[in-house]
Amino acid sequence: MKITEKLGEILHEIEEFKVETKDHLEQFRTSFVGRKGTIAQLFSELKEAAPEDRKLLGQQINKLKNTAQNKFRELTTEFEAKTESEAATQLDFTLPPIPDTLGTVHPITQVRQRIVQIFERIGFNVSEGPEIEDDWHNFSALNFPPNHPARDMQDTFFIEKNPDITLRTHTSSVQVRVMETEKPPIRTLSPGRVFRNEAISARAHCIFHQVEGLYVDKNVSFKDLKETLLYFAKEMFGKETKIRLRPSYFPFTEPSAELDIYWGLKTEADKRITKGTGWLEIAGCGMIDPNVLENCNIDPETYTGFAFGMGIERIAMLKYQITDLRNFTENDVRFLRQFSSISI
Ligand code: DAH
Repeated sequence: MKITEKLGEILHEIEEFKVETKDHLEQFRTSFVGRKGTIAQLFSELKEAAPEDRKLLGQQINKLKNTAQNKFRELTTEFEAKTESEAATQLDFTLPPIPDTLGTVHPITQVRQRIVQIFERIGFNVSEGPEIEDDWHNFSALNFPPNHPARDMQDTFFIEKNPDITLRTHTSSVQVRVMETEKPPIRTLSPGRVFRNEAISARAHCIFHQVEGLYVDKNVSFKDLKETLLYFAKEMFGKETKIRLRPSYFPFTEPSAELDIYWGLKTEADKRITKGTGWLEIAGCGMIDPNVLENCNIDPETYTGFAFGMGIERIAMLKYQITDLRNFTENDVRFLRQFSSISI
């Protein structure tokens, strides 16, 4: 077949070529535009043409090449626009969203944050102390004399070979650190982790969390303590919450008391957790013993103060009706997930 005839035929093919899929587009490219396509072939056949015809033929093949390239360009843009709009119509806005996999704030952290918020509103700041303590801050300054039986109230982890170093058994140690370094008026809250040498069970753990409260100023009275605790109980457990203070003993407070909230006796569970009384103990408290103030270089003739301490796990258990303490440390996501949307 003569080159001129081929030219006509290829032009016809280019004009008639239908592109409906990506594959068709690729076929068009390899047939006409690519380096092994029919047009490229024509250029190599040009050598065989009579020399006087070559110039004209060359121009004609070039023209054909441009036609093929233009059609390819047009088809490519047209095709891209088409696939984009097709993709858009394939979006289904009625599908449920893909669930997010964000973690949750641990219930103990949530409760701690809530306790801090409640006390911040009445002027308490937050202070922290070390988890590894010395005997002075954990015991002696708090009026636990050496070898005094009151030290047995808390089963202590000691560092081997150095009985002066302990894992703190309570956050009351932070009271001492704050009073040693700050001048009254002091209003501070000390949340933190504490350690006791106890077997782990549903009701006890060797690691748990406490919040210590401390208020030292002129003329601080037992009435201030009671009002502060009542305010806290209502904010934490509801406006109708009733409290009572039962006399108790702690070496660092005098008088000392235990704070109970009225839980009620409506259900069998209420009876069980309150041991049939309706009341639940949530904190220890009292007026700071003058010896403790003196140990921290605060003049007990000028200043008085109150302190309280409560367990965060205990409050979280009451608030969310959790019956086993071990849930807090086992990191079972089925347990933790339940707290994802709680705002307390
Ligand atoms: N530290 C005590 C404990 O761990 C709790 C406590 C009781 C703290 C009375 C106080 C307080 O500040 O005044 O059992």
